[in-house]
Amino acid sequence: MLKIGALQLKSNLILAPMAGISDFPFRMLNRKFGCELAFVEMINSRSISHKSRHTQRMLFSNKDDRLLGVQLLGCEEKFVRKAMDVVNTYKFDIIDFNAACPVRKVVRRGEGSGLLKDPKKLNKILKIVVKNAKVPVTVKIRSGWDKDSINAKEAALSCQDAGVNGLFIHGRTRAQGYSGTVDYNAIRQVKDALEIPVIASGDILSPQLAKKMFDETGCDAIIIARGALGNPWIFKEIKGLLDSGEVVQRPGIEEIVKVMLEHLDMCIDFHGEKNGVIIFRKFFSWYTRGFRKVRPLRELSSRVKTRLEMNEIIQAIPGHSAVLVCR
Ligand SMILES: Cc1cc2nc3c(=O)[nH]c(=O)nc-3n(C[C@H](O)[C@H](O)[C@H](O)COP(=O)(O)O)c2cc1C
Repeated sequence: MLKIGALQLKSNLILAPMAGISDFPFRMLNRKFGCELAFVEMINSRSISHKSRHTQRMLFSNKDDRLLGVQLLGCEEKFVRKAMDVVNTYKFDIIDFNAACPVRKVVRRGEGSGLLKDPKKLNKILKIVVKNAKVPVTVKIRSGWDKDSINAKEAALSCQDAGVNGLFIHGRTRAQGYSGTVDYNAIRQVKDALEIPVIASGDILSPQLAKKMFDETGCDAIIIARGALGNPWIFKEIKGLLDSGEVVQRPGIEEIVKVMLEHLDMCIDFHGEKNGVIIFRKFFSWYTRGFRKVRPLRELSSRVKTRLEMNEIIQAIPGHSAVLVCR
């Protein structure tokens, strides 16, 4: 059992916030496979108040989409305060503040992992979030800005001082982006220093790597990011290994195809046929990672426009024989 402030979780496996990925269909699909806490896509404090159609779509949820967190990006007190007013009109179980995003245009504004260069400012902003929040607050940081300025422990202590209820840490520096090795030691140092739960991130791509993260860092929970792309089964696989040492078999092609079709339908139901198919294109590649002789289908999948066409391509995956009914 994991406790983040007043929020009780049965599972210590959390679906990571992923911009451009964590939409309603993606969250709901992962929930079917054991994900308990998921996040809507990261939202900028400045744009959330505009309530554009795009933002409203990002914030959409329903009663089955639980437990659910929102993640805010920002560095200006005025906008963060305003954003909290908007967030409070929605039903979220947790609010996370992003001090981890490595994207150039974000850090240039002093947001995301740019805040790691200024832990005092981060502390000030977090105090605003905590003060205005009606639910538990967490923060997500990286191990530091670059290899010469690893300051995860200092930054994490400052976040704890601001009153957050939990801390997510991606064990890479901003300079590393998403490549290079994960710094388990930096995460361990943070875990040893903090009293609040520490939730670790970085290369949770398999049950074995998930176990390694727990073993090497002593973290309270982990977040699954790239490991869940085209692989919602990862939740069951990690749980199997952690709970009973069981190595859960990877699903066969029939099962993967079935889930692909379901995911495609969910994307179309939520985003409409045109956008749903476009959004699903990248998932086609992820679901078929490691499959043989799928390159021509992958190329096709990046061009198709309709449900029928995408359905046909999915059913044409070599090794798959079922006849499926298109909606
Ligand atoms: C496509 C993509 C989008 C991401 N978007 C966010 C985001 O909006 N907020 C965030 O805190 N982390 C984001 N991340 C980082 C992940 O949450 C995670 O910390 C990182 O990918 C490391 O985990 P992994 O090595 O297991 O993928 C994103 C990662 C990916 C791959």
